[in-house]
Amino acid sequence: IWDNVPLAPPDSIFNLIAAYAADPTPHKVNLSVGAYRDDDNKPWVLPVVKKATQILLNDPTLDHEYLSIIGFPAFTSAAAKLILGPDSPAITEGRVVSVQTISGTGANHLGALFLSRFYQFNGTKQVYLTKPTWVNHYAVFKNVDIAPVEYPYFDPRTLGVDFDGLKSALENAPTRSIILLHACAHNPTGVDPNREQWEEIAKIMLSKGHFAFFDSAYQGFASGDLNNDAWAVRYFADKGVPLLICQSFAKNAGLYGERVGALHVIAPSSDAAKRIRSQLSVLQRSEISNPPAHGARIMSLILNDPKLSEEWDQDIKTMAYRIIAMREQLYKLLTEEFKTPGNWEHIIKQIGMFSFTGLNQQQSLALGEKAHIYLTNNGRISMAGLNTHNIRYVAECLDKVVRG
Ligand code: LMR
Repeated sequence: IWDNVPLAPPDSIFNLIAAYAADPTPHKVNLSVGAYRDDDNKPWVLPVVKKATQILLNDPTLDHEYLSIIGFPAFTSAAAKLILGPDSPAITEGRVVSVQTISGTGANHLGALFLSRFYQFNGTKQVYLTKPTWVNHYAVFKNVDIAPVEYPYFDPRTLGVDFDGLKSALENAPTRSIILLHACAHNPTGVDPNREQWEEIAKIMLSKGHFAFFDSAYQGFASGDLNNDAWAVRYFADKGVPLLICQSFAKNAGLYGERVGALHVIAPSSDAAKRIRSQLSVLQRSEISNPPAHGARIMSLILNDPKLSEEWDQDIKTMAYRIIAMREQLYKLLTEEFKTPGNWEHIIKQIGMFSFTGLNQQQSLALGEKAHIYLTNNGRISMAGLNTHNIRYVAECLDKVVRG
C-alpha cells in the first residue's frame, strides 16, 4: 500500500524557514518569508493586538462555542468596510457576500473553489496569474481544477511593470477570463501599477467582461495607509468590474498563526448575493465547518473601535516605515559605500514587504550557501528581515555575489 505515493518536493518558502532555523551560524539572516520582524529580528506582536487580547481575556462572557459557518459577523462586516470603504455602495445595497476564511490562503482557496463550481467559464477553466506571482497561487488553483496561465507583469529589464505586455495579454485573453490581481504591494516583485495604469486595466477588464480575483494580503504595507492601499479595489468596485477579494490579516495585524481572513464577493444584486452566500456556506461547511474564533475576535475589536483602529494605523506605520528605512539604507550602502555594479534604484522604488533584487537563481542560492543569507531562488528578499544590525553584512554579501 502507498507505493503509488510519490515524494513531493518541500514547499519552497517554508523549506527556507526550516533551513534558517536549523542553521547554527550566529550571523545567519532570514530574508525568505514575508513576515515582519522588528529591528532585533524578533516577531512583533502589535501593541494594539496585545490590548485587544487583554480585553478578550477580561471578558467574562467569552466562551468557546462554534462561530457560524460563514464566521463572526462583526468581524466580516468590518473587514468588508476596511477594503471596500465605509461608504461602499455595494455594501449598503446588500451586494457584498463576506465569509470568514483561514487567512488569505483560505480565502484564495474558497474563492477559487466557488469559481470552479459556479463561474461560467468561456471555454477552458483557467485563471490568469501575474508572471511572477506568489508561488502558492499555482497550487491553490490547480487544487480546484482551474489551470493557471501566466500574463506578463514584470519587466526584468526595467525591474518595473511590463505594462504593454500586461495590457495586450488582457486584451487578447478570451472574454470573461478570470484575472488574478494583487491589490497592492505585489508579491514577489514589490511593483504595483500606478493609478492611471489601474484605470486602464479596469477599462480593459470591463470591455472584455473579465473577472477580477483580487488578492489583498498587504493592505497598509504599500504606503503605510490602509485607505490608500485599498484604492485599486475600490476603484474597480466603483466601476462595476465583477470581482472578489481575498483578504488576509496575517501581515498587517501580525496575526500570522491565527489564520484570520475573509473572502468578499461583490454580486450584481442582493438576490444574487443571497444565493452566492448560501453556496459559499455549503462549501465552507464541508471543508472546515466554521472558522476559528480568536483572531476574528481580536480583529473585530480593533476594526469596530475607533480608538483601537487609530492605534492599529500607527502600528502599521511603524512596520511600513521601518521597511522603507531599510530600503533607503540598503540602497545607500550598495551605491555609496560598496559601489556595487548595476542600478539599485528599484530597491527604493519597490514597495511593500518585498524587494525583487534582480539576483538570479545561482546568486540567490550562493547567498544561502556561502553567506547564510536565506532568500527565495527568484531573488526576492523580505525587507522585514533586514535590520540595523545585519544590513551592512547583507549589503557586503550582495556586493560580493554581484561581482561574482
Ligand atoms: C510569503 O510569500 O512569503 C508569504 O505569503 C508566506 C507564505 O505563505 O508563502
